[in-house]
Amino acid sequence: MLFGAALQAAAAYAGPLAPPARLGLCAACHGEDGKARIPGAPNLAGQSQDYLLQALHAYRTGRRDAPVMRAAAGPLSEREMQDLARWYAAQSPCMPPQAGGR
Ligand code: HEC
Repeated sequence: MLFGAALQAAAAYAGPLAPPARLGLCAACHGEDGKARIPGAPNLAGQSQDYLLQALHAYRTGRRDAPVMRAAAGPLSEREMQDLARWYAAQSPCMPPQAGGR
């Protein structure tokens, strides 16, 4: 059982994250790095993990009404939503727009 415990410890190691299995479902709109790829999609990089997870729950239940996100969150398991929230929270946030430009 020692070996199993070691494996679990390795899985819990919070070092460089492996991209979540479902990242491909989100990347077209939010980017793999959490920087939006389409107009109207929010940047997810660097937002709080709890906030991201709550948003996914809210879309899935319809409490937050956005058909696109309801469709995206619908097939996810709780574990997959946690992995995605952790991933996007760990990406470096977008730079704020340059002040006073143009
Ligand atoms: C087709 C484009 C599209 C795809 C695919 C998509 N999203 Fe979104 N996402 C959006 C849009 C548009 C919004 C803003 C919706 C709103 O008005 O609440 C959004 C909002 C969000 C939010 C809330 C962000 C905030 O700042 O409140 C989270 C979290 C999120 N998406 C995560 C994901 C995850 C995780 C996936 C993959 C499973 C995914 N999205 C797939 C378009 C997309």
